[in-house]
Amino acid sequence: MQLADASLLKSDAYIDGQWVAAEKRFAVTNPATGAVIAEVADADAAMARHAIEVAAKAQKSWARETAKTRAMIMRDWFNLIMQNQDDLAQILTLEMGKPLAEAKGEIAYGASFIDWFAEEGRRITGDILMPHQHDKRLMVLKQPIGVYGAITPWNFPNAMITRKVAPGMAAGCAGVVKPAQQTPLSALALAELAHRAGVPAGIVNIITSSDAAAIGGELCANALVRKISFTGSTEVGRRLMQQSAETVKKVSMELGGNAPLIVFDDADLSVAVPEALASKFRNAGQTCVCANRIFVQDGIYDDFAAALTEEVKKMRLGDGMEAGVTIGPLIDAAALEKVAECVEDALAHGAEAVVGGKRADLGADLGAGLETTFFEPTILTDATPKMRVFREEIFGPVAPLFRFKSEDEVVGLANDTIFGLASYFFARDMARVWRVAEQLDYGIVSVNTGIFSNEIGPFGGVKQSGVGREGSRYGIDEYLEMKYVCLGV
Ligand code: SIN
Repeated sequence: MQLADASLLKSDAYIDGQWVAAEKRFAVTNPATGAVIAEVADADAAMARHAIEVAAKAQKSWARETAKTRAMIMRDWFNLIMQNQDDLAQILTLEMGKPLAEAKGEIAYGASFIDWFAEEGRRITGDILMPHQHDKRLMVLKQPIGVYGAITPWNFPNAMITRKVAPGMAAGCAGVVKPAQQTPLSALALAELAHRAGVPAGIVNIITSSDAAAIGGELCANALVRKISFTGSTEVGRRLMQQSAETVKKVSMELGGNAPLIVFDDADLSVAVPEALASKFRNAGQTCVCANRIFVQDGIYDDFAAALTEEVKKMRLGDGMEAGVTIGPLIDAAALEKVAECVEDALAHGAEAVVGGKRADLGADLGAGLETTFFEPTILTDATPKMRVFREEIFGPVAPLFRFKSEDEVVGLANDTIFGLASYFFARDMARVWRVAEQLDYGIVSVNTGIFSNEIGPFGGVKQSGVGREGSRYGIDEYLEMKYVCLGV
């Protein structure tokens, strides 16, 4: 690692503005090589409890600051992040595996939430209501919810933290963040820059730990925590919701997806092919919004499959630190195993791998009987609803192509899932664009584009993909409580 500023690489937890060691440490490894990059403080529930208490104290004075003061500190944090974009991207690639250019993109994406919410914080408003009696005045105030717990995933080690911390900070809240065990270094580097930007002690606390159940359990059980924001699997989200029920917390859950990507006969292939590629293979297929099931209409199926295959053959798999690499390793051996099993199941049920289809002979020996966490970018033709790839989130670089005949049929297939996060379709007939956009049972519909993520649009799902929205002007509401004031005059 060649950082311009080596002091961005931290390995202790960050509580109350201090770097705090723990009795135990855990190793962080580079998924491309298996090499240990750092040994990080392995915090326990008692450390999390301490961080929550510190946050509760600090939050009170932070909430009393003007929104402008909070915005100015956040703006300094944003500037420092962008000034250190190259170093932050290196740290991210080394612990997570995505190609360096993609990591740099994530740093800018992550920073955009800080920039955005610094401004949104200044636009929090309340209401004055028409009273029901002459001697009454009725008002609605918006106030910070207090302390929140943020539990963040390894696939976006930077942006999923800022997407939660920035609205919290702007609203006048204080947070305790538990980053994924695989990727704590990006979180700690963000904390170092927050410290330098003048974010007061206790407003952002980072609890690094290998014991997600203990830290998550404390965050959910502790009555001082008034809100839990989680990005991750539906299975874990359900558990956190159950645990949060005891103390009746507000929750935001960004959970699993099973995104359909539909290519209609009237689609412009010169748009649909590169955009489907971008959606499917972003982060090696490891995002909750990656196209999971690609439905292609009969009349265009063969042309689309051939063109996508040509593009996939050009992708370069390898260590994300190497120039020219466009797709990195999967995060760990368990992820690789899951992807390989999904592909084997599809092949056993009649699919054909027209490109890829197996583990790639690259990388270090990571143990567990597996030689590598690289999986070849894969296209499976003749996919059917009987296969696991129809029902499950693949979370890997595998594109199953399903054939369909009519609009009604494909809308039915697309909605036939417990998930409802992102969906995509490609078509030129405007009447169809409206019809299908309205019928897809998803929180996000992306039309004629494979990438929709930014700080401006509301990100979130319906059905078992979650509750609440992140980013956008709506995201700050998740960190605010409404208070009704009835004034006798
Ligand atoms: C995710 O996969 O959880 C987030 C993806 C995004 O923000 O685009």
